[in-house]
Amino acid sequence: MPMLHPSGGLGYHLRAWRHRRLWAPFHAVVAQWLAGWQPAARRLVLVGPSAGYALPRAFLAGFTRIHVLEPDPVARWLLTRRFAGMPLTFDAGRWFARPHGAAELAARHADAAFLFCNLLGQELVGQPRGHDRARWLTALAQALQGRPWASWHELVSTGTCPGVTSAAGWYGPACLEDVLVLFWPQGGELALIDHATFGMMPAWPRQYALWRLSPARWHVIEWLPAPQG
Ligand SMILES: C[S@@+](CC[C@H](N)C(=O)[O-])C[C@H]1O[C@@H](n2cnc3c(N)ncnc32)[C@H](O)[C@@H]1O
Repeated sequence: MPMLHPSGGLGYHLRAWRHRRLWAPFHAVVAQWLAGWQPAARRLVLVGPSAGYALPRAFLAGFTRIHVLEPDPVARWLLTRRFAGMPLTFDAGRWFARPHGAAELAARHADAAFLFCNLLGQELVGQPRGHDRARWLTALAQALQGRPWASWHELVSTGTCPGVTSAAGWYGPACLEDVLVLFWPQGGELALIDHATFGMMPAWPRQYALWRLSPARWHVIEWLPAPQG
């Protein structure tokens, strides 16, 4: 793992420490999402949790084994300290970014629930040159069909200050513009980075929140838990 990879590494931990108060409201939203997600599986696979900054101990306590895919060695070390005594096992997980990575993940962990911790909209460690995120996400959805899984991930990020900072409730199929209007009802020009995750599992209900990453940077996050049947 390069120590300065864009989706993790030392820079991420420094940011997490520096902006811990700024991130706290978003972490409270993640805690609420997780409190409402109760898969029947007793084993959990956490994918990309970093040091677990957004993960409440109470949520993890419900599992008898927690398998972590996280390429950042500093994150793995911090996670072990943060959740001392919890049944954690680790895997650097670079293989997960390959075209058949999600199928391999589902096959390796037949009786587990999967939680993708804000990495589906990120550059992944180990992703091959020419990685096609849309195709890779389609393969992920197919591989996890009928399995308990959930993800929070970026839809877009921007430097434009939102007019509204929270969006309660569940949302059905929408277009990206409808989601943006939840937070920027004032309209106008919005320069943004598209994280190419919009449109996953279009029939599933989902929730949205803002993560203020830094004083002048906002990420629109989608919470997408598989409906339990
Ligand atoms: C934006 S950070 C996640 C943030 C973290 N979940 C949080 O809430 O603070 C993305 C994480 O994905 C991890 N990651 C990158 N490539 C990965 C891969 N191939 N498999 C698993 N995790 C990966 C990075 O090391 C990083 O910790």
